[in-house]
Amino acid sequence: MKGSQMSSARKIFDIDDLTSEEFAEVLDFSLLRNPPKVLSNKSVALVFEKPSLRTRNSTEVAIRQLGGGVTTMADQEIGIGVRESASDIASTLCGYHDLICARVKSQVTLESFAAVSLTKGVGVVNLLSDLAHPVQALADVLTIKQVWTGIGHPKLTYVGDSNNVASSLAKAASYAGIDVTISSPAGYEFDDSTLERLNIGGGLVRKVSDPKEGVKGADFIYTDVWVSMGQEGQTERRLVDFSSYQVNSNLMALAGDAVKFMHCLPAHRDLEVSAEVIDGADSIVWAQAENRLHSMRGLLLKLFWKAN
Ligand code: CP
Ligand code: NVA
Repeated sequence: MKGSQMSSARKIFDIDDLTSEEFAEVLDFSLLRNPPKVLSNKSVALVFEKPSLRTRNSTEVAIRQLGGGVTTMADQEIGIGVRESASDIASTLCGYHDLICARVKSQVTLESFAAVSLTKGVGVVNLLSDLAHPVQALADVLTIKQVWTGIGHPKLTYVGDSNNVASSLAKAASYAGIDVTISSPAGYEFDDSTLERLNIGGGLVRKVSDPKEGVKGADFIYTDVWVSMGQEGQTERRLVDFSSYQVNSNLMALAGDAVKFMHCLPAHRDLEVSAEVIDGADSIVWAQAENRLHSMRGLLLKLFWKAN
């Protein structure tokens, strides 16, 4: 039986599965460029029910940098809930691996993995679900902290769909003392009780439906795709509903003088962001993408090195 080497196996389904102190520690560990090989003789299973470029590569490389082995599986190979149940898959993986990281269509699958794996000393990390994308949010806040040179609370405005990325980003920003404004079209907004649950730290999370109003004074403007993976059937309607929420140079001009543009990627030029903005001098999307590696390594260090 593998597992149990992770000092206390845990589930990281979203940012608030870390305390604010642990969150800060992960960011500190992300800066370590030559950390101890805490995954030596350990192995991690990566399961993908949806496509990925950044998450798969950054997680695999982070594991290797920490001396670990990694096995990556696409759902087409293992057939979650079709070829066998999520709990049977988790029971099997726990015999080989010390951690399961998974990108899933539904958070319920993560719950099914964790219900089995935690009892065997094997943790579960969410690599994107319908509800959350915590490993993206770690990289985003790391990037903001590297770029921000002002005083007081940085101001981040998220323009677009109130989705998995927006939710984890808002929680991570709140922990980091970043004030967040979320600007979404009617029907795509967080309801008031959800918004309240995003306010987990010193940064204030609020919503403003008009993006022109929302970006006033922003230091960072962030957007994500209008059609997330799995929502392809809604494409026609969403392209209409989000058409006035594009981040372009007119919107950027309404923000602070030194405003930076952020996107988790993949991006669709001239839909959610104009090409001139994402490819322009104020775009920090490549720093975000690279920081996926450093922050993932930071999270793994937190889980396997300084677990308490
Ligand atoms: N941002 C992000 O998670 O990218 P991938 O979907 O390519 O992993
Ligand atoms: N909201 C997007 C993020 C992709 C990284 C999706 O879920 O497809």
